[in-house]
Amino acid sequence: MSNQLQIPLDNRLALCASFVREGTNLADVGTDHAYLPVKLAAEGKIRSAVACDVREGPLRNAEANILRFGVERLVRTVLSDGLDQVAPEDAMDVVMAGMGGELIAAIIQRTQWLYDADRRLILQPMTRAESLRLFLCRKGFAVREEKACVSGKKCYSVMLCQYDGKPWECGRTFEYFGRLEQDASPEAVTYQSVVLQKLKRKINGLQQSGRFPEMEYYNLIYQELKEAVRKISAAGQP
Ligand SMILES: C[S@@+](CC[C@H](N)C(=O)[O-])C[C@H]1O[C@@H](n2cnc3c(N)ncnc32)[C@H](O)[C@@H]1O
Repeated sequence: MSNQLQIPLDNRLALCASFVREGTNLADVGTDHAYLPVKLAAEGKIRSAVACDVREGPLRNAEANILRFGVERLVRTVLSDGLDQVAPEDAMDVVMAGMGGELIAAIIQRTQWLYDADRRLILQPMTRAESLRLFLCRKGFAVREEKACVSGKKCYSVMLCQYDGKPWECGRTFEYFGRLEQDASPEAVTYQSVVLQKLKRKINGLQQSGRFPEMEYYNLIYQELKEAVRKISAAGQP
């Protein structure tokens, strides 16, 4: 088996990688092990990559993997909070995976050169995806594509975004389901049901701690999303 085949990309990172343009200059923010840029470089799919992390420890892992798979001419590490230490020309495609949605939004918010239609953002929030979608809509980033995948026992959504300078107020179902709001594929259906389960747990917690106005607020959202899921499933019936 060649080295290339041994680079461990799970379904989640493979889905992120599938959105990266061939021949691009890639920045992988919060890279940790750097599997994603290493795999794309080993396959000859990118021109260059910066593997960025805010901590030294993950960057040492990244450097070890870059050397192990022999892609040091194409991939280099950068110690950086978000994209603060990255040159704009090194980041035509930007992957931010495995971080919280609010952190991803904060990194985009302060990186002015990401407000550029030629760049591609590939975002996979671990938490608070709804906050990230709200931020993207309000700041004029279009979610061009979104796909769900199951990896291990978890379900993830990956968004492909580009700045188009047209802010819009997205509806509730878009906030929580994104482009998966009309999607009846098995992965999207799993994603929708995980979102509903998380909301239900939140509502139960609020009830137990006596926070009734908040509980009511989230209960209305839950009912709205449940109805949307019912319609998607009815539309998918023969
Ligand atoms: C859970 S790992 C995700 C690794 C990889 N991207 C993935 O999806 O498998 C999150 C990484 O993000 C890094 N990180 C957290 N905050 C960051 C920031 N503000 N800027 C850059 N990296 C950050 C952490 O140090 C950690 O290595």
